[in-house]
Amino acid sequence: MAEILRENGVIHLRNDAISYVMCEMPGGVPAHLYFGPRLERLDPKNLLRRAGVAADGSYSVQECSLDRLPQEYPSFGLGDMREGALTAQAPDGNCAVDLRLVGVETPGEKPALEGLPATRGEGCAALRLRLRDEHTGLEVELNYAIYDDCPAVARSAKLINTGAAALTVTRALSLCLDLPDDGWDLITLSGSWARERAIHRRPVTQGHQGVSSRRGASSLQVSPFMALARPDANEARGEVIGAALVYSGNFIAEVEGTQYEAARALLGINDRDFAWRLESGAAFQAPEAVLVYSDRGIGGMSRGFHRLWENHLLPRRWVGKARPVLLNSWEGCYFDFDEDKLVAMAAAAAKAGVELFVMDDGWFGHRDDDTTSLGDWGVDARKLPGGLGRLGERVRALGLQFGIWMEPEMISPESDLFRAHPDWCIHIPGRESITARHQLTLDMSRQDVQDFVVEAVSTTLKDSGATYLKWDMNRNFSNIGSALLPPERQQELPHRYMLGLYSVMQRLTDAFPDVLFEGCSSGGGRFDAGMLYYVPQFWCSDDTDALMRCRIQYGTSLVFPASTMGSHVSAVPNHQTGRVTPMETRFAVAMGGSFGYELDPCKLSDADREAMRAQVAFAGRTQDLRLYGSLYRLCSPYEGNLTAWISVAPDKGEAIFTLVRAMSQPNPVAPLVRLDGLDPARRYRIVETGEVYGGDELMRSGLCCPLGQCDAASVLYTLKAVDE
Ligand code: GLA
Repeated sequence: MAEILRENGVIHLRNDAISYVMCEMPGGVPAHLYFGPRLERLDPKNLLRRAGVAADGSYSVQECSLDRLPQEYPSFGLGDMREGALTAQAPDGNCAVDLRLVGVETPGEKPALEGLPATRGEGCAALRLRLRDEHTGLEVELNYAIYDDCPAVARSAKLINTGAAALTVTRALSLCLDLPDDGWDLITLSGSWARERAIHRRPVTQGHQGVSSRRGASSLQVSPFMALARPDANEARGEVIGAALVYSGNFIAEVEGTQYEAARALLGINDRDFAWRLESGAAFQAPEAVLVYSDRGIGGMSRGFHRLWENHLLPRRWVGKARPVLLNSWEGCYFDFDEDKLVAMAAAAAKAGVELFVMDDGWFGHRDDDTTSLGDWGVDARKLPGGLGRLGERVRALGLQFGIWMEPEMISPESDLFRAHPDWCIHIPGRESITARHQLTLDMSRQDVQDFVVEAVSTTLKDSGATYLKWDMNRNFSNIGSALLPPERQQELPHRYMLGLYSVMQRLTDAFPDVLFEGCSSGGGRFDAGMLYYVPQFWCSDDTDALMRCRIQYGTSLVFPASTMGSHVSAVPNHQTGRVTPMETRFAVAMGGSFGYELDPCKLSDADREAMRAQVAFAGRTQDLRLYGSLYRLCSPYEGNLTAWISVAPDKGEAIFTLVRAMSQPNPVAPLVRLDGLDPARRYRIVETGEVYGGDELMRSGLCCPLGQCDAASVLYTLKAVDE
């Protein structure tokens, strides 16, 4: 059970697994003392000795060096020389903020964050620190929550201007975590289009290291996440702290190694090109950041995140629920289709047992390629003369659900919408607007644009009867300006855009509770905890190549569970890499997420169509285990030729194991893979081979897996405990 203990100025948040401890310093600066395994109590004087006045004697408040003191929400400019969490400019031009504790409260429940996604607070203990800068009247509410059921702490910061004059906030991060030593590696996820979320690990050294985005989205290139791992920590062992931001826009995730052998981790909205005018009486809410602690390696951290998102973040009506096996038309026919062609694809999919047919891009305006029509959400009668209604009916008549693609945040310069509302896009008047994929971004900070998007999506869903919507977003910001914001608020646009987007997502998901929304952004370009508050799954990558997907899904799984990762079997040669991989390996890899197909089933060989029928049945039978089991990563594609993982049922009675070998070699050796997460005292039957082994043997000695002699060979085994 989560609880909050307070004694002699020490504030201790703890649950069965972890403790988070802070204390009030003389003078009121809130100090950070500890985040790690559960403690009975902690005596501040022990740790605070490290914060004593430096040998050089400087920057001290009441015998305590601000430059050494581990702090909860530091600011720059009054003695702490490290990067701070907060900067605000007063009317006199000065930017220093001196926050002192003025109140400690334990609200009965975790407060929601106005306008922003955040973890839900059932089953947690909440704490609020009130800090105040006397000079400007700026107050900060630091909200904390510790959960009963996860080794995690959530934090957020709300700024309130109680002074008489307006302030300009130029940095308002969500999290500062001051760790007493710098003996850590920093793990981040980064990549590119079709190569998202590759794992990078580097030692923390003195200075700054981290990742950031100012693209207007969390992005394909970097993820709003970082982990600090002890240098000897690996998948299964060692101490790891993960931090993730529940936000989908510009961010920084950064660690500073200090001169005093300490490490400061910072996470929040990117302060580059950010400024927020805070009028007297106004408030600014920074997004939520969550910290997860693991003493069971990187794998333990991942399972902590997965449980946290499943129990507290993902849309409730989808967690633990079956996801329909879908077939998406994109790689099957791109823009080249008409009603009969789609119905033929759907009919072939239905025969294989597929449950949902999704029509991707190309159905509206005059969209024969990506140069036109975004914003003109009326059906293209050349392709679909019977409208969305008739297509939806014909698909449903085959026993399938119908789903549809939209890219609601975008506008093509070649569109009626642009001709009618040239000021609705993000742009700088007088400058040429730079297009990407021939499109511009709608200014989602505007209420009229938000209303238009809600209307367009609602009409499309109603007209088509769709029960699934793929919400795409395919370019990042440039020419960053809004026609409606005054000059002094132009740098608020990226965050106001996110507030507008979240408001639209909330309105639509409230209005269509039974529609399954899947996020997409040129693949996984906005795959983050902010979006996952509204959409239970996200298209993991435009790269559907099985070997590339091993890397992408493996990296993604550091933070997000299988249920959130859209993963499909596509045709070969693969459209992104040109690689030919066996059908069973494409299937085995796609089984690692919310499963579907991305091909034209009419073009499959009879053998592949037959295989598809068996695959769909298997996907359905194993859905709970694959999507909601506990994930143990076993072999990393970043370290060698093998990728392996196992997903284990909560009662350890069943598991599903996947192994992929990228390259074959002559005179091969069958891989021996040690499994994890099983019950060592039970025996397990491998359903596909009929062999029975002890859990202890499988975990300690390993499972020998003979593979076919080809590149991208794989095995997919289901294990069932046999009760004797
Ligand atoms: C993006 C998506 C794809 C597909 C296309 C359609 O690239 O990531 O899955 O929907 O747009 O244009």
